[in-house]
Amino acid sequence: MKLRIAFGALALIWLAGLSHNAARAEQNKTVWDGVFSTAQAERGAAAYKTACSECHGGDLMGDGFAPALSGAEFMGNWNDLSVGDLFERIRVSMPPSSPSGTPPAQKADIVAHIMHMNKWPAGEGELEPKTDVLKLIKIEQKK
Ligand code: HEC
Repeated sequence: MKLRIAFGALALIWLAGLSHNAARAEQNKTVWDGVFSTAQAERGAAAYKTACSECHGGDLMGDGFAPALSGAEFMGNWNDLSVGDLFERIRVSMPPSSPSGTPPAQKADIVAHIMHMNKWPAGEGELEPKTDVLKLIKIEQKK
């Protein structure tokens, strides 16, 4: 009897450890893990040109009124947040006059372009236009 209880307790501790590790693995992705593809960033560059560059500039440096989307200030704003936070901000509020005029898939492409311009590496996969999935990718200015 005592043995069974001890075994049960051990199994519980083991299970708790497993799920803990699984949760950690999912959250451990960062912008340094090659989370978008070069093709996606190229599509994003075209979409950015149409929907965003008029205010944020062709080089993403802003126009004095619209903030820069690369460089020190941008990094300061977004460091430690997630790619999902950035995507969601763009999804609900940009461009200001018609946020719904650009479909979410194109906004995911645009985020890939912004990431490319901030010198985060491309990889095999693509960013999905899903805030909850993108929230698992952390923005880290430095590796
Ligand atoms: C008409 C001008 C205009 C256009 C077009 C526009 N933006 Fe903006 N954007 C702004 C302004 C102004 C702000 C700052 C004030 C605010 O948040 O509304 C801003 C803020 C942002 C921010 C927050 C930056 C930060 O670090 O806080 C992001 C990200 C962004 N824009 C992305 C985009 C993207 C991507 C597009 C294209 C889909 C876009 N914007 C189109 C004017 C514009």
